[in-house]
Amino acid sequence: MMGRPKITVVGAGNVGGTTAQRLAEKDAYDVVLVDIVEGVPQGKALDISQAGPVCGYSTRVVGTNSYDETAGSSVAVITSGIPRRPGMSRDELLATNAKIVKSVVTELVSRSPEIILILVTNPLDAMVHVARRVSGLPKSRIIGMAGVLDSARMRSFIAAELNVPGPEVQAMVLGGHGDKMVPLPRYTTVKGKPVSELMSKEKLDAIIKRTCDGGAEIVGLLKSGSAFYAPSASAVDMIEAIHKDQKRVLPCAVLCDGEYGLNNVVVGVPVKIGRGGAEQIMEYELTVDERASLEASANAVRELCATVDRLMA
Ligand code: LAC
Repeated sequence: MMGRPKITVVGAGNVGGTTAQRLAEKDAYDVVLVDIVEGVPQGKALDISQAGPVCGYSTRVVGTNSYDETAGSSVAVITSGIPRRPGMSRDELLATNAKIVKSVVTELVSRSPEIILILVTNPLDAMVHVARRVSGLPKSRIIGMAGVLDSARMRSFIAAELNVPGPEVQAMVLGGHGDKMVPLPRYTTVKGKPVSELMSKEKLDAIIKRTCDGGAEIVGLLKSGSAFYAPSASAVDMIEAIHKDQKRVLPCAVLCDGEYGLNNVVVGVPVKIGRGGAEQIMEYELTVDERASLEASANAVRELCATVDRLMA
């Protein structure tokens, strides 16, 4: 029998630990949980393994402080970094997390040259840029998780407002994972019906604003740390799309090379996700205003990447 694909989760904090748990529950992968803190990845891996007999999975979960166990991984989810604190912008995380991501990516790629990287560390788009700079991997194998999460937030707000099941709501949030993200109500539907026909413009505008502030809302409530249930669910959804070769179109942060008129910038766009990773950027037709918003969001990412390039020079 073929072994199960090995998925590495780097960072055994709330996002990483929950991602490992969700992966274990799929009963389809081997999971390696890595962290620099001694004992934490080992302890969480044991705890997740011990839930297996109760929950009905037999996933092998290994917790380690070394990257040697990650060799031969098909996908790695990178969650390591310092989290946002209340009042802290994603951008303030830039310098510290760039250093961490650089070292993590180097360790991973040297042991798993065929790996697909899913970045979760903030500021997200800039971390995808850093991973690209240091890894030498093709752009199809470096993907940022943000759009699935931001869209999930919008879907959940719409579902609550209309009192419909969340999975029946489809939404598309493009752009950078920052204050200038670009929710697209024209591509947001409930059972195929445009959302604009189902609620007032005021309600929809309020939901769009709440979506853009969605991460900060949770940071403010938790006081220490940021969201992790929906982020881990979103990362695992992307892994499933890769491993099942689903070719689903998900909003992901990838390098644009002319798509949407954007050159050499990492930004959230609709991407066909399959076995090859980010297999194709889908060019949705956008209005002049939507295109301008996407450009403004891309420009904010460019500034951040220019800063990170200076810091890393
Ligand atoms: C969020 C933060 C972590 O969106 O970026 O939850």
